[in-house]
Parts: sequence; structure tokens; C-alpha cells
Amino acid sequence: MSDRRDNLLSSHAAVVNLQRQAHPKRFSFALLPDRSGNIRPGVFRRIAEQVEMMSPDFAIFTGDAIEIIDSPDDEETKLALNEQWDEFLDELSPLTRPVYLTPGWHDYKSAAHAEVFSKRLGSPRYSFDYHDCHFIVLNCYEAFINGEASTDAVWRLGARQLDWLAMDLSAHKSAKHTFVIVHAFYESMERQEVVDLLKGRPFTIFSASSHAYRKQEFAGTTYYQLATAGGYSSLDGVGNGTVDHFAWVTVDNGDVKIANVLLDGVLPDDFCTEELAADFVAGEVIISGRMSLWDD
Ligand SMILES: [Fe+2]
Repeated sequence: MSDRRDNLLSSHAAVVNLQRQAHPKRFSFALLPDRSGNIRPGVFRRIAEQVEMMSPDFAIFTGDAIEIIDSPDDEETKLALNEQWDEFLDELSPLTRPVYLTPGWHDYKSAAHAEVFSKRLGSPRYSFDYHDCHFIVLNCYEAFINGEASTDAVWRLGARQLDWLAMDLSAHKSAKHTFVIVHAFYESMERQEVVDLLKGRPFTIFSASSHAYRKQEFAGTTYYQLATAGGYSSLDGVGNGTVDHFAWVTVDNGDVKIANVLLDGVLPDDFCTEELAADFVAGEVIISGRMSLWDD
């Protein structure tokens, strides 16, 4: 009797929007923008803590982790660079899920930077799959460091990287969606080539570098430029895209949804307890707010 009643109750659940259930392979990932230059201490750690609360499948850092060090390519410079990476990784440590790294100009501006990045963190360009999606991380300073491009053409992927990209894309033709992450896309001298290679498949490009959020159009495609997670910013607000934030991307059977979360936009489950509320008695706004509700 009790079973019958339970069945009856569940079949009458109060629910709407039944036409589209979440796909079993639905997943979310976070994009963390520039931490440097002119790091504002502690901001990146707070972003990492908030992303951890949201429990993404993984995160992708879009580049500029450390400050520029203009020094000779010697052991002392490499030591200083490693110390800066220690600081960055410490600020990232609240995040327990994998964090894929994209090299920014600050991270890859000299042979010493490149050596420390590769030895310590891995390849500065790579791809990986997650469920039925393909992710590509590009290094827009590779050609400059490899000598393929001159110093006045810093934002160059280079012919070798473009060849690799073409091969990688043709090896992953069946991906339901392709995500490309590159620190500087707008500034990249080969952005047309990148878009041409991607055409014919569903894709999204994420970049950073300018420290101001923009949803942009280029060559018939939309791409995103993220703002900051502690890097230099006028912090004028959402009106001109100068905010500290992270992007939250949910992929549901090929459907991509992008949300942006401002710094302090995620609160822990204990953000207000009886004890904390009691300590806030001096907050007259809250007390008077309650009183006016009760008076109604
Ligand atoms: Fe930056």
C-alpha cells in the first residue's frame, strides 16, 4: 500500500520543462583569466577558492601567471622564475581538479621563461579530449621564442604550430565541439588562419591578454576575450569589461553555455549562520529590514 502511494506521489511531482533532460555526459569547466601583470595579491587565490566551490570537471588558466622578469637567461633568472611559479601554484592550490595552463606573454617571454615553463609545467601547446569535445591550447609566443618570428612580431603562432594545429584538427574531426584557448587571439597575426582551419566544425575561441572582457566578432565567428583574476585593472565594472571574474562553461550534448562569475559571486554554504547573524546585531539595515517585514 505504501509503495503504491509513493509511486502515485512521484508520478505527480511538481515539475515543469520536462522536454529537455540533462545529458549523462554534461560537464562544466572554468576559465581563469590573467593574474599578471601588476598582480593584486590574493585576488587569484579568492577566484581559485570560488571555482573550487563550484566543483568544475577541470579548469583552464588562460595565461599570464607570473610577472615579467627582464634578466639574462642565466640560472639566477630561472631561480627567480621558479619562485614566481611557486607563488602562482600556491594561489592555485585551493583548486583540487586538473588545471590546464596556457602560456601568456609574462610566462613565455624569453628563452629562460620558456625553459622553466616546459621543464616545470609541460608542453606550452597541446590538445586533449573530454567526453565528446576536443580542447586545444595554443602558444602565441612560440614563433618568437623559436626564432621563426622577429621581436616586433611577438604574437606569432608560427608555421610549425599551424601545421600541428591542422594535423590535430584533422585527427579529431568527430568532436562534437572544439574549444581553442590562446592567450592573445585578437593580437595574433595568424588569427585568420586559425579561423580558416576551424571552419566547418562547431568551435569556440577563448583568449585573454587585454584585461578587459569582450565578446567579439572576427571573420564571421564569435570569440571571447576574458578580463582579469588579479591582474592590472581599472576595475571600472561591467560597463567596459574591467572586472575580476571567471568564466563558467557548461557543455550539454554539444550545446555550450557561458556564464561569467564576478569576484565574490560565489558564497560558501555557511556564509550566514545563526552565530554570524547574531554577531551582526549592530547591522541596523538588516534589523530594520526584518522589522519592516514583520510589521507588514
Ligand atoms: Fe596580463
